[in-house]
Amino acid sequence: MKYKKNDFLIDNVEAKILAKKYSTPLYCYSLNKIKENIKNFKENFKSIDPLICFAVKANPNSNLLRQIGKLGLGADVVSIGELMKSLKSGISPNKIVFSGVGKTYEELNYAIKKNILLINTESKSEILQIEKIAKIKKKKVNIGIRLNPNTDANTLSQISTGKKENKFGVSEKIFLDIVKYVKKSKYLKLKCLSVHIGSQILDNAPYEKMLRVLKKIINKTKYRFEYIDLGGGMGIDYENKNKKLNLNKYSLNIKNFLKSFKSKIIFEPGRSIVGNSGFLISKVIYIKEGYKKDFIILDAAMNDLIRPALYNAQHRIIPVKKNNKKAKKIYEFVGPICESTDKFSILRNFQKLSEKDLILICDVGAYGMSLSSNYNLRPKATELLIQNNKVQVISKRQSLKDLI
Ligand code: LLP
Repeated sequence: MKYKKNDFLIDNVEAKILAKKYSTPLYCYSLNKIKENIKNFKENFKSIDPLICFAVKANPNSNLLRQIGKLGLGADVVSIGELMKSLKSGISPNKIVFSGVGKTYEELNYAIKKNILLINTESKSEILQIEKIAKIKKKKVNIGIRLNPNTDANTLSQISTGKKENKFGVSEKIFLDIVKYVKKSKYLKLKCLSVHIGSQILDNAPYEKMLRVLKKIINKTKYRFEYIDLGGGMGIDYENKNKKLNLNKYSLNIKNFLKSFKSKIIFEPGRSIVGNSGFLISKVIYIKEGYKKDFIILDAAMNDLIRPALYNAQHRIIPVKKNNKKAKKIYEFVGPICESTDKFSILRNFQKLSEKDLILICDVGAYGMSLSSNYNLRPKATELLIQNNKVQVISKRQSLKDLI
């Protein structure tokens, strides 16, 4: 993914050709980048040989799931829809974990029927519900318990999950009570302790603290957990400032931690697998003069990519074709939706843009399309998967007929 002369290429294909052929807004993913991310992830954690379950919520496209499954990953799912889609995409049930605070009877029943690796439970009520279903089915069901380690992930408050005020997991006290209960259950087999402290984490310290809390609590249980599921959350470098989590250091910390416990580690990464593989190509519809700035009105909007509006998240914007002319004004990149938060970025010193020019919004492979909507009755965009000149439509733009 680079410029050749002045044209941006995604896996050797010119972005402008894609925009012309498939129209905009257009999601494009580089399969080579996904493969590279998976390889890096595996290499960094090689010494602990974890089971890597891709967090499907980051990008549930079936074609991507199929590719990710072929590369040996399992799936972390949070709904019956994600579970069905993962199975349909060829991911084996014994590599699937089911997370989430509010799994319904129907969802649990289905997961139990499919014999997935683990249901990571988040409350005593959910455990009782599983026990009830297991009894009817005369089965022993493998479960995990999600602990809330009361650890600040130092990330955006909206995507932090590991503090005691968050709805996720159970406190130490409840965790210890539940362990006692499950140990005696005829229908439940306690296999796993799970945690997930938040997303877009760029600092190793919260993970180190989390491991210290786990060690203390596991010692108190005197129980051998076959699996310890450390969740996901590994952040990516959205701002291109080389700010990255040190995965190797994290791996060493885990190795150290495992000296006390003989457990298999599970990870549930989403963003770090697909985030930087995706681009959203968009066309400038109009340029409107505003007070001390120009509004660059794009054909992509918050319904296509809601992260900036929802979390004030920053995604780099770059031109599809460089022209080496500097804009005189500040540019505010906005979408056409009737909301003031429908804006992507305010940039100084961008290159001079004209109407009909194309731009790319970067790092949208995770929580881009998966958080998209039909707000303002706008159809969802086409998604392309690209590898070495080969372009595949992996999801077609919704037609107006579908919507109306
Ligand atoms: N495991 C669990 C239990 C989770 O709740 C999540 C994400 C993950 C794994 C994957 O986390 P990752 O490796 O992708 O950070 N919409 C937000 C992100 C919300 C993440 C929710 N849970 C965003 O666009 O930043």
